[in-house]
Amino acid sequence: MKKKFVVLTGAGISAESGIRTFRDSNGLWEGHDVMEVASPEGWHKNRDLVLDFYNQRRKQAREVQPNRAHYILAEMEEDYDMTIVTQNVDDLHERAGSTRVIHLHGELSKAQSTVDHRLVYDLEHWEMKIGDTCKKGSQLRPFIVWFGEMVPKMEEAIHAAQQAEIFAVVGTSLLVYPAAGLSEYTSRDIPKYIIDKQIPNSPLTKYFHAIEGNASTGMQELKDLLASE
Ligand code: APR
Repeated sequence: MKKKFVVLTGAGISAESGIRTFRDSNGLWEGHDVMEVASPEGWHKNRDLVLDFYNQRRKQAREVQPNRAHYILAEMEEDYDMTIVTQNVDDLHERAGSTRVIHLHGELSKAQSTVDHRLVYDLEHWEMKIGDTCKKGSQLRPFIVWFGEMVPKMEEAIHAAQQAEIFAVVGTSLLVYPAAGLSEYTSRDIPKYIIDKQIPNSPLTKYFHAIEGNASTGMQELKDLLASE
């Protein structure tokens, strides 16, 4: 039986693919106040701006490629029963070949109805516009979990964390809840690792084995370490 390995990933794993992380530029996200582009209030205030913002993110995500860290996680399915819980809205884990990916904060490649949240559509094109509607006739919004909104996939992620036999965190500042608290649901006595360019100073990872460095080299180190045990 393969061991159950759960990995929580954040923006840092996509950094080497060329996608900027959130918290390294004065709290601005690509020049915007985060609440302007990532909250229901921002959406009600200026839907054009929000659609355009995610259009740009979507376009960019299509132009970049997965990096070694994404590929190593996908390759590890050969030896482990992998579940990736990601805060990222890009699809780089899937494009690298990972087959079980839980997107806590939504997916850029999808749109959602504004009257019925169960109506979610795959987007074929990178551009969403005012006037694009769901089958019930209401405006579509990006399928993104904004600040102040529920995180519907959290339950599934918690279930995976509770079953985990190995747990790792890669490239997240661990500042945004509930995602940051996922490790709290893991068993106390399983091995836990954190990989980050600059290990966050968080009480959550007190008993984690820290691997400081880029996600790609850190993932290689972790893979080798696990193989040698
Ligand atoms: N390799 C490894 N780690 C890296 C790299 C890299 N090349 N580059 C940056 N990092 C680390 C940073 O040191 C930081 O700890 O990645 C982390 C990125 O943190 P954030 O920018 O805060 O991203 P994340 O934790 O994913 O943000 C969580 O906040 O705005 C919301 O919904 C958004 O999902 C996002 C959530």
